Amino acid sequence: MPLSDSRLDQYVVDGRRAEIQSHVDSLLDTMTLEEKAGQLNQRSVHFVTGTEDEGEELESAVADGEVGSLLNATDLETKRHLQELAVEESRLGIPLLIGFDVIHGYETIFPIPLAQAASWNPDLAERAERIAATEAAAAGHNWTFAPMVDVSRDPRWGRVMEGAGESPVLGSAFARARVRGFQGDDLSDPDTVLACAKHFAAYGAVEGGREYNTVDVSETALRERHLPPFEASVEAGVGSLMNAFNVHERIPASGNESPLNDVLKGEWDFSGVLVSDWASFREQIQHGTAENRRDAARKAIQAGSEIDMASEVVIDELPDLVRDGEVSEDRLDDAVRRVLTVKGLLGLFEDPYRYFDEERRDETMLADKHRQAAREAARESFVLLQNEDDRLPLDPEADVALIGALADSGEDTLGAWSFEGRPEDAITIRDGLEAFLDREVPFTPGYELPGDVTEESIEAAVETATDADVAAAVVGETAEITGEAASRTEIDLPGEQRRLVEALVETDTPVVAVLMNGRPLAIDWLAESVPAILDVWHPGVEGGPAVAETLFGEHVPAGHLPMSFPYSVGQVPLAHDRLPTGRPGDDGESAYATGYIDAPNEPLFAFGHGESYTDFAYTDLTLSTAAIESGETLEATVTVENVGDVAGRDVVQFYVRDLVGSRSRPVKELLDFETVDLDAGETAAVTVTIEDVDLAFWTVDREWAAEPGAFDIMVGHAADDIVHTQRLELLD
Ligand code: BGC
Repeated sequence: MPLSDSRLDQYVVDGRRAEIQSHVDSLLDTMTLEEKAGQLNQRSVHFVTGTEDEGEELESAVADGEVGSLLNATDLETKRHLQELAVEESRLGIPLLIGFDVIHGYETIFPIPLAQAASWNPDLAERAERIAATEAAAAGHNWTFAPMVDVSRDPRWGRVMEGAGESPVLGSAFARARVRGFQGDDLSDPDTVLACAKHFAAYGAVEGGREYNTVDVSETALRERHLPPFEASVEAGVGSLMNAFNVHERIPASGNESPLNDVLKGEWDFSGVLVSDWASFREQIQHGTAENRRDAARKAIQAGSEIDMASEVVIDELPDLVRDGEVSEDRLDDAVRRVLTVKGLLGLFEDPYRYFDEERRDETMLADKHRQAAREAARESFVLLQNEDDRLPLDPEADVALIGALADSGEDTLGAWSFEGRPEDAITIRDGLEAFLDREVPFTPGYELPGDVTEESIEAAVETATDADVAAAVVGETAEITGEAASRTEIDLPGEQRRLVEALVETDTPVVAVLMNGRPLAIDWLAESVPAILDVWHPGVEGGPAVAETLFGEHVPAGHLPMSFPYSVGQVPLAHDRLPTGRPGDDGESAYATGYIDAPNEPLFAFGHGESYTDFAYTDLTLSTAAIESGETLEATVTVENVGDVAGRDVVQFYVRDLVGSRSRPVKELLDFETVDLDAGETAAVTVTIEDVDLAFWTVDREWAAEPGAFDIMVGHAADDIVHTQRLELLD
């Protein structure tokens, strides 16, 4: 199959595509079945260099052309050595793809992706990934297993920290930005890396939030909720996608033909490469859909998957499967062509060593401008959850006491998935505060990580707080209880941190809370007892200074939640775009309306919520026309005024409700958003353009279409704080 019309073309300079194609074709003509299978075989370096024998086995597999890509290689020397073996020792000299999980920075660790999404500023994520790619490429990598674009509304799932939260619209905007950031303008530039949108698909919907669990979503939910950020990634030219671990329609993703062949490669015309997740080809056996390794390899390749990450069923079984006529050589060639094309796009055939340059590496890592960008990203990601009595910002002259072991932990400042980030490079909140104030700040850990307290630890904390004008309690999650394989059934503060906070609020010293977390937490008690809460997530290498600048008012917080915070874990999954049900209970009167008897339906802090040290007022939501026909566009404009005393940034959120559809439509869905920076007293008109495609959904005819009828266009400060609504008619 020719790949010449690929969207990936946007990453190749003129003319190179044909050259790559002909090189790939000539290689394919000369390859044996074993060499072809080798291109689909991905080996982990980290897990095999443990013993000398295993290391030697990997070396000889590479030299024999049985390996097409690597993951988890860390030091540059190992990467160069293995690339030399592939290029100089293997018969055809095909260079390796060298992949790594660069999830929120390489050495310069940025805030976790969920935090970045709280900025509602996709440019920030693009900048972060540009820097991450520059560093990763300087360290010998040409491929990152990011961005994770799984939409999730279940904070029990530890991996929500890797994504952009609950909205397919916000998620798609960040997916596009991240792909652009990693892949740059030209993939053959030595400071770009191949991106990988993952995990295809619907991994964010694991039942009960339990890691690696079953997924059971309707086609409508798949289409409307889970696929949009993947489609956005493909439109942005992403070079690779990764299979999910889970089933869809009871079929494991890596062997599920319908989403892979029909949607991804059919409807979306994806011409990049599809890699499995870790051993997920083989795990079809555990899922009970493949009898053995041979069956697993056959099903995965037939379904449209290509690279086998770490299960080695393809290298072992595929040549015979082709010889026995169970997999066609055409399909194998298509898979190998995709891998080789990506190698060509990266410029690896011209110079396989372009990513190994010690000097470049030493100059690039943690460069001042990278740290600066990480600090800005951290500041932009902070969400002021509440600020009663304007308790924040703090007065720099005040005696501040700092309580909480998380404030002093480099590892937790960085967050999960920061392999090459070094805790000692992270500026903790404690260090950041002391540097900002230029004095020592009284500090007590108060609890042992993740949350154990003793009478003594609480007493010491109370004593420290009592002597101060204000106490900043840094509480929340360690990195370790977030990320992969870190699902929780309780999403309150871990351990007995609550006891510590309750003891602090008993003192006469005012308390403010700084929350570090990788997921929305159920903290209604905290919201009741502490007037000011600043959510700083896991803020990355420059987290400390960013927190200090925000606590003391040098930066005005402007982040908004990309994911709802529930009152209790019993409410999840929870999201702003819920369906009305037949008994919405809008009148607040009927007992037989959808709901709980012991908790509200609404979240504690809603999607889109975020306060500021200033206030914004919205007037005059206007639509440029009250009715459009299919194919027409209109503009929605709102006037925003900064009515407070300091300059700040607002995130203006537009929502939509389709009043009558062939399927029940959400009570509101994010439609679009804009950020606007305003001085105190300044006013600006904020406009978004709405096309009929923005009103489309997966209709009862199983197609994306906007159905004629009435729509409410809303503008608000958050999903639960809508200020103005206008009616729009889509004409027949
Ligand atoms: C994760 C992937 C990751 C891969 C390689 C898997 O366990 O699910 O997201 O890219 O490991 O490290």
